Amino acid sequence: MTSFIATPIGITPEITIGELVAARPLLSRVFERLGIDYCCGGKQTLAAACAKLGLDLKTTRALLELAADTTQSGAAEVDAAAMGLAELADHIETTHHAYLKEELPRLVEMADRVARKHGDRDQRLQEVAAVTRALTEEMIFHMQKEETVLFPLVRQIGAGQGRISAALLSGPIQQMETEHQAAGDAIARLRLLTDGFAQAGTFCRTHHAMFAGLAALEADLHRHVHKENNVLFPRALAQADLKGGSR
Ligand SMILES: [Fe+2]
Ligand SMILES: [Fe+2]
Repeated sequence: MTSFIATPIGITPEITIGELVAARPLLSRVFERLGIDYCCGGKQTLAAACAKLGLDLKTTRALLELAADTTQSGAAEVDAAAMGLAELADHIETTHHAYLKEELPRLVEMADRVARKHGDRDQRLQEVAAVTRALTEEMIFHMQKEETVLFPLVRQIGAGQGRISAALLSGPIQQMETEHQAAGDAIARLRLLTDGFAQAGTFCRTHHAMFAGLAALEADLHRHVHKENNVLFPRALAQADLKGGSR
């Protein structure tokens, strides 16, 4: 399990929204959800931003503290190898798929905005936006295939229902693995185009938050694909052989 120690941050009424996002870029998600402008309105204090929108300061601070703790320690990692097939498929859908469905459209929107505003200062931002959009379209379709075709078969195998052969499974699994490789190539291309998502090269808070979001996406994608390629798929194939034979 990996973790990193970030410097502590005091979420006081006097701290500005910009300072909060600079210290914890992923808090931008919470601000977006609350409708707090963290880009152009970054100079306002937390108390002022809450008062403007009629938000309860105490509740908002508690929400931010919780999110800051989560982003500081990283999401707790589960022991995929100790899970049953159905449990692991459920876990992948409710964590990694749910995260991607929420995060990818947000990243596309930010990448487009940054390319429009700063594309003349860094030509690579146009390609960053194009690759992020293509990756998003591919991953949405990819997850749909897993959720409607492959995972239901995997759950049936886990429950010992029906006779599902390894031959029936191997086609969809190979297809998913090819798509994982394409997604891995896309995120590697994004890493290259952004000098490793380097915050030093960013021009505004949206740009900063986008790079932080892409770095988090890369880490999550790696864990997600590991659970499918290295745990879920081989185990489903092995159990299909046992229960379904080659029929
Ligand atoms: Fe998946
Ligand atoms: Fe997948």
